[in-house]
Amino acid sequence: MLKIKDDIYWTGVKDWELKKFHGEELSTHRGSTYNSFLIKDKKTVLVDTVWTPFKEKFVEKLDREVGLGNISAIVINHVEQDHGGSLGFLMEKIPNTPIYCSKNGAMMIKKHFHQDWNFNVVKTGDILDIGKNKLIFVEMPMLHWPDSMATYVTGSNVLLSNDAFGQHYATPYMYNDQVDQCELFQEALKYYANILTPYSKLVKQKINEIIGLNLKIDMIAPSHGIIWRENPMQIVEKYSQWASEYQEDTIIVLYNTMWGATKNMAGAITKGLEGSGLAVKMFNIGKVDKNDIITEIFKSKGIIMGCSTENRGVLSDTAALLEVIRGLQFKNKVAASFASYGWSGESVKVVEEKLKVAGFEIVLDGIKVQYEPSLEDLEKCQDFGREFASKL
Ligand code: FEO
Repeated sequence: MLKIKDDIYWTGVKDWELKKFHGEELSTHRGSTYNSFLIKDKKTVLVDTVWTPFKEKFVEKLDREVGLGNISAIVINHVEQDHGGSLGFLMEKIPNTPIYCSKNGAMMIKKHFHQDWNFNVVKTGDILDIGKNKLIFVEMPMLHWPDSMATYVTGSNVLLSNDAFGQHYATPYMYNDQVDQCELFQEALKYYANILTPYSKLVKQKINEIIGLNLKIDMIAPSHGIIWRENPMQIVEKYSQWASEYQEDTIIVLYNTMWGATKNMAGAITKGLEGSGLAVKMFNIGKVDKNDIITEIFKSKGIIMGCSTENRGVLSDTAALLEVIRGLQFKNKVAASFASYGWSGESVKVVEEKLKVAGFEIVLDGIKVQYEPSLEDLEKCQDFGREFASKL
């Protein structure tokens, strides 16, 4: 086991092959890790487990390295299968071991494993004395499940933050100062944008609450990706910014096209936007990973989305992207729509309505062209881009 700090050891798994997470919902181009920790004090405490497919490897390693019978307590910060999944297999071997978790955590463990184990429900500020160190529990409800919590280790000043501050990022290294900073922050931001955006208000409150506890934090060890040891508060500051309706000076033009006419309009709109001084990025919804698009939308001031009409609606990739956008409920972003169509042309209206429901302000009436845009139509598209930029 790799020593992280003082009495804390990493006993997790690096999943280099993971390409999709949450079923097939979330792309993970750089794999992931499931970080589990063992604190070897007077009492030996395991904090979190790993995803179910790795349960045998995980439990065998624990037995080999520490002896399962020596584990005095298990803390489950979060029940979701990537952290709680191996608990059932482990508890088959040590069924009387006390489990420390939130009230919702206990309920969820019972509903996952249908066992009445030795549950010890904890709330924010509760302390478990394990020898030199004490564990202080901090509930983090809806960051990002109702059961989520963090565990602070007093002697080492390490915050085991579970999903918060994590990244789906497998590397040969363990710490933030050892890895490519562009990759690290790209993955941390993608994680926030795709998972935590709807809970941004709670993120801000929780950060203020943790700062208010006046805990000395030398290290933040999330349950995915690298551990923040060099200036660990930098990721807390980033979360604070990301949770505050974060924006960069970018506009995103998105299109989905059957025969290229809507793409031609997108190109002309982009040209119109380019004189605005804002960076304009254009993506084909049908070709670009939807979670990468979400990360770009997260950073933007606004989006312009166009899609061919099919069967009185939008193309299926556009429908899927709009559904993800609806759930994330971005704040303080503007939008408009455009499209080429053949005969009925409902797509512009559908996109506008869906984006309104998702919380975007529609600042321009959509622009439609029947079949291929003429030179005059393309001029109008450029004007449309210029007018959109002027609304910002
Ligand atoms: Fe919410 Fe990493 O699981």
